[in-house]
Amino acid sequence: MEFAQHLTQNPTAPARRAEILSDPGFGQYFTDHTVVIDWTEGTGWHDARIEPYGPIALDPAASVLHYGQEIFEGLKAYRFADGSVQTFRPEKNAARLNTSARRLALPELPEELFLEAIKLLVATDADWVPDGDGESLYLRPFMISTEAFLGVRPAKQVSFRVIASPAGNYFGGELHAVPIWLSEKYARAGHGGTGEAKCGGNYAASLAAQLEAEEHGCSQVLFLDPTDDYAVEELGGMNVFFVIDGDTLVTPALNGDILHGVTRDSVLSFAADLGLTVQERRITFAEWKQLLSEGRLNEVFACGTAAVITPVSELRTADGNLTFPDTDQATSVWGRIRQHLLDVQTGAAEDTKGWMRRLA
Ligand code: COI
Repeated sequence: MEFAQHLTQNPTAPARRAEILSDPGFGQYFTDHTVVIDWTEGTGWHDARIEPYGPIALDPAASVLHYGQEIFEGLKAYRFADGSVQTFRPEKNAARLNTSARRLALPELPEELFLEAIKLLVATDADWVPDGDGESLYLRPFMISTEAFLGVRPAKQVSFRVIASPAGNYFGGELHAVPIWLSEKYARAGHGGTGEAKCGGNYAASLAAQLEAEEHGCSQVLFLDPTDDYAVEELGGMNVFFVIDGDTLVTPALNGDILHGVTRDSVLSFAADLGLTVQERRITFAEWKQLLSEGRLNEVFACGTAAVITPVSELRTADGNLTFPDTDQATSVWGRIRQHLLDVQTGAAEDTKGWMRRLA
């Protein structure tokens, strides 16, 4: 598909861009352009274009504003030492977008259109890709229902867009271990619900729990499955891992309620290469506490595209806190996998799995 080019007449001044890139934070600043592809029932995808970044004109009756028919993705573009810009496993994001689309009754987007869209945006706004340690350009593809209609049914008009935002550490400042809050009042997903879809509603539903977390000094929430034996599911915006008995990496199995994290999948693959025993299985809160009390729990960490890999220092709960062992970044499982992942993503280590794709 041809993308029409409507480039901005008012690009950000280079000095202002340099100021933003010197301390990008996460999700606060956006590049000069956005890619858009519209969809209409009967016609399919049409009017692909790149246009200046700016507000979207939506009818107040647009169904996304009422019924939340929305999905999104997150992936990053990295600056290599040779000046090229590359991204990591974008086909996984394209495929997951379509899994989410099916669950939210949105149209599927052909994978090549997804890849062309991110490539065009990154090539156009390549000057926005930071090159600092752990920095990247975070790409946020998303799809919304734009039809003005208040009946509850899948919309007949939809828009797919990609925006881009220079990114440093998701949690702000330097990498540090974070405490997390155990949500006992709220669940993230129910069986048969939208847990494994990447839809805005899942994140909206996590916010009341996150407010509770913030009251306890935590910026992330851990959700359990309250309908069963309190199996661990995931954090508000990332998957969770445990290292036990020194050589075994455990993460909750994908059971329909848990997000199929691209970083999660990559961590499992790198861990197997490191010779660790990898287990995707049900792990209950009771087992977690028992492993800790027996001295068998070595590490707890969170991972996601935005957060990369971040160690967890403590689980705060209404009944008291569980404190996890202090870990050394250079020798810990999380630290070694994080370094290897970042090295592959930034071209410092060989991409033996063929996961990198050049964008610019
Ligand atoms: C990501 O890790 O890319 C996410 O989408 C998590 C969060 C920022 C919503």
